[in-house]
Amino acid sequence: MGPFSTPPRVRSQTSRSFRAAVIIAVAFGLGATVLKWHQTEVQKAQDVAEVDRRARDLANGLLTPVREALARHDSAAALALTPRLEGFGKVIGFAVYRSNGQLFASARAVKGLADTLPTALTEGLKGESEAVAAARWQGLPVRLFAIPVLGEGGGERGVLVVVHDVSYISDLATQRLTRSAFWILFLMLLLMMLVVATTWLVYDRQLHKLAEWMRRLRTENVPESPPPGLPVALLVSESNRLAASLRAARSVGLSESEAAVRAEQSWTRDRLRTRAVAVLKHGQLIVVSNREPYLHRRVNGRLQVTVPPGGLVSALDPVLQACGGLWVADGSGDADRETADQFGRLTVPPDDARYTLRRVWLTKQEEHGYYYGFANEGLWPLCHLAHERPVFRAEDWEQYVKVNQRFADTVVEEMGAGNGMVLVQDYQLALVPQMVKAARPDLRVGLFWHIPWPNPESFRICPYRAELLNGILGADLVGFHLQQYCNNFLDTIDRMLETRVDRDHFAIESRGHTAHVRAFPISVESWRDRAPTTEATEILLADIRDRYLAPGTQLGVGVDRIDYTKGIPERFRAIGRFFERYPQHRERFTFVQIGAPSRTDIGRYRDLVTEIERLAREINDELQTDTWKPIHLLVGQADGATVHAFLRLASTCIVSSLHDGMNLVAKEYVAAQEHDDGVLILSEFAGAARELSDALIINPYDIDRFADAIRAAVEMPPTERRERMQRMHREVEEHNVYRWAANLLTALAAIDPMPSTSTLMSSREITVPA
Ligand code: G6P
Repeated sequence: MGPFSTPPRVRSQTSRSFRAAVIIAVAFGLGATVLKWHQTEVQKAQDVAEVDRRARDLANGLLTPVREALARHDSAAALALTPRLEGFGKVIGFAVYRSNGQLFASARAVKGLADTLPTALTEGLKGESEAVAAARWQGLPVRLFAIPVLGEGGGERGVLVVVHDVSYISDLATQRLTRSAFWILFLMLLLMMLVVATTWLVYDRQLHKLAEWMRRLRTENVPESPPPGLPVALLVSESNRLAASLRAARSVGLSESEAAVRAEQSWTRDRLRTRAVAVLKHGQLIVVSNREPYLHRRVNGRLQVTVPPGGLVSALDPVLQACGGLWVADGSGDADRETADQFGRLTVPPDDARYTLRRVWLTKQEEHGYYYGFANEGLWPLCHLAHERPVFRAEDWEQYVKVNQRFADTVVEEMGAGNGMVLVQDYQLALVPQMVKAARPDLRVGLFWHIPWPNPESFRICPYRAELLNGILGADLVGFHLQQYCNNFLDTIDRMLETRVDRDHFAIESRGHTAHVRAFPISVESWRDRAPTTEATEILLADIRDRYLAPGTQLGVGVDRIDYTKGIPERFRAIGRFFERYPQHRERFTFVQIGAPSRTDIGRYRDLVTEIERLAREINDELQTDTWKPIHLLVGQADGATVHAFLRLASTCIVSSLHDGMNLVAKEYVAAQEHDDGVLILSEFAGAARELSDALIINPYDIDRFADAIRAAVEMPPTERRERMQRMHREVEEHNVYRWAANLLTALAAIDPMPSTSTLMSSREITVPA
């Protein structure tokens, strides 16, 4: 096709209009021709009638002298009448026949017309007073008009025939027809042009615009409405519908292709493993935390393995399962020793070994001082703004330092002469980074702080703040969930230590070592990867429905360690207020709280269990009916499958933390929403609220509004529930725990662990009070 030739689509449209124009023009031409022919025939008949009329006048004028000439047998006298023909144009002449039909006389040019009266006339005159006939004479069409010539007594003497040349009548008709044919042709052409122009203006041009609009609709973003001026209203509405469905289809296609891109970019266990291998370069990955991922107990003499509750374990176990390596943790189960080897090692998960767990053995006294005392009565309330007063005891600090050193030594021992990365977890082990670095400055050490970092004013009440901060600064990389915690940390360091704080790069230089500070919001792994739906799952789901869900009832759920930071009493009060304010929802909404007892050696935690049990009881006593209970409080540790089943079934999940670093239950709930139809109620004071902005965000201290949020969740229309949950689901799927670990490992691998002039403080410099 040449550069200027018309594209086939356009050409075929044009020829179609041209064809339509030809058809219309030919139809018009045929009609007009038939009409004109009919008119001409009528005109011809009128002309012939006129000829006959004139012939009659002439014949009547000649009748008397002809009668006399016949009577006298004087044909000359008859011929003498010729001059009377003057003034009668087109008359060729006349002839007189005797009554026996023989020619008597013929005048003018009709001499020799016929010797006997033409039969047509003889026939025509039978019983008639005149007769006409057409004949040809000397090649010309002629018209014969005959009247009988009667004698005195009424007897017939002869017949007078007037002959007219009628050739002019057909000539005239031909002329008229020819002229009309020209006009008809001209009008046909005009009509064709009109039809082509009109169809172009009214249809083709608009259809071209429509076609162009549709083409762009298919390939790019175009204005919402079809081009104006479409010829047929139906076409407009159909186009609009078509456009809407195309857009919908494109958005589905787009989301499908986005999903494909996301799938390609998403982080999986395998992808993390590949990344870990690449960044570790044959080195070892050692994770160190207080809480172990698998804990062995003897229950009624039988060995039982449990996964302790808490975000740290649920986030890190899949990472270790992906990367392999070693996890150093406190062996706190009463059957932990018997299930580990002489060095405290065992492979886990117990039924599908993927990495090594190295247990560290602590005495009761160490556990009390380090874990219950300094970590959970001191640092925990210090970092969580939940109005719980921190308690700092010198003996606890002493144990804390000692146990941290034990963990650091274990790490160094496990690393041996090899190389690798150490990921220290959380506030229980704040001194480990610096302690490991003191022994092995070449190791890359990261510390991830799973709880909030408070502002400097709050932190400064800690009597061991400098030691703690220096311990943390031993890490090459310090990670928090939120940027806000990073900022608070830098402010704290700035106020409390003699260091160089580089706010542009979020780095702190102290004694020749640089610690980089970054936000890495932690997440969960997809339930698909860990809990495939089995028959056992179905049985579990059916059991939960049977126990807690009367038909037509919605299920709300909360899953927490029983900790004062989780806002469980506030949650129960809000549920009570909800039923009080909106009684129409009684017996239509049931709340199940799964509460895992935690740190029960601490009075405050034990009291909390009592408090929430009492609260639940009070609310139930007031509201429950024979068939319905507003709150089911299940105190105990639920296994992963049970938690998952509750999260799947619940139409609402409530996370009402007074302060929380991230809160993975919120993300677990979102990840469990297969049909995207659950509503998450989430405290604004949980780190997860930064990412899950489609949750119903509440202030757990504002009980009335909290109750209203429960109502909003219960009454939320399905479309809104789905739209909100879909967005959150996408967020959680995309930013899963594998991405978190990959980011952390990659960032740590990018740091040079060996500063040229290291003046790191040795572990001996940490002051241990007498
Ligand atoms: C929080 C802490 C973790 C801790 C978990 C469970 O998530 O950040 O470090 O492991 O709670 O608490 P527990 O005291 O039972 O280990």
